[in-house]
Amino acid sequence: MTEEKPVPGGNTVLVKFEDGIAWVHLNRPEKRNAMSVELAREMNSVLDALEIDDRCGVIVLTGSGEAFSAGMDLQGFFRSTDAITDVERHRAYRETRAWQWRTLMHYAKPTIAMVNGWCFGGAFTPLICCDLAITDEDAVFGLSEINWGIIPGGVVSKAISTLMGDRQALYYVMTGEKFDGRHARELGLVNEAVPTAQLKERTRELANILLEKNPTVLRQARMAYKYAREMDWELAAEYLTAKGDQTTFVDVEKGRDQGLKQFLDEKTFKPGLGNYDRDG
Ligand code: ACO
Repeated sequence: MTEEKPVPGGNTVLVKFEDGIAWVHLNRPEKRNAMSVELAREMNSVLDALEIDDRCGVIVLTGSGEAFSAGMDLQGFFRSTDAITDVERHRAYRETRAWQWRTLMHYAKPTIAMVNGWCFGGAFTPLICCDLAITDEDAVFGLSEINWGIIPGGVVSKAISTLMGDRQALYYVMTGEKFDGRHARELGLVNEAVPTAQLKERTRELANILLEKNPTVLRQARMAYKYAREMDWELAAEYLTAKGDQTTFVDVEKGRDQGLKQFLDEKTFKPGLGNYDRDG
């Protein structure tokens, strides 16, 4: 009998596997999934484990209960970290940045944020660093920091500047006003805003579209986009040409050859009408 692999997780992060999708829940519903230092440590370990776990082809990041996340844990992260040494504080910040930004931004597998309720402050960073995002149209978003005397720190101000225009970003940074999921869609923070009853099903549908793609090429395409947007045009052109060649080299499925053969030789596939046959 083969032994079942343990499911990654901990006190503050809950993972559920379902047909290639890893549903990763920020799991402190009684604290509206406010993100503590413990949660950062567990998220780092969960993301690390899922990256090489065959049960996970796509990650959906969401929250247990009625919140996606109420932001940084104001007690555990700020007040308690005021009382610790500077080195310990540095480590806590580093561990938070690691999962919320660096790891998610350059993760080996596709990621979807599913915003199921409150989404405040620090929660904008993992939301934005996921590749795609879907929200409940009635979810409530807010850069609430200004209302209680701090700035959108961590890396929130930088993160919002990558998706929101300056006028809109500064409006919410400066007023701290809340907005709903429909407006989050208009601001470009999410791909879609859907009614509560459709949120999970629509997210599952999108995850399944990604699961059907060639995983190597999907990873290369996501990385190419994210790195190229930081480069000037000359560098981007050179980088993308090299990345394209590297993709062909590392793609064990040889998708490019398959596609070309099916279009040019066998005439069984038209790129304008659908996908090439990956098993063909
Ligand atoms: N940090 C620490 N604890 C929190 C946080 C947070 N960000 N958000 C909620 N909690 C705690 C509450 O203190 C409360 O704890 P208690 O039961 O021990 O009293 C518990 O979670 C439940 O919160 P309530 O406020 O009672 O829940 P309610 O559903 O009425 O309101 C809401 C939810 C609107 C999200 C409210 O909790 C809220 O405004 N939270 C803070 C939002 C915010 O400004 N986040 C910080 C952004 S800035 C940053 O991330 C750096």
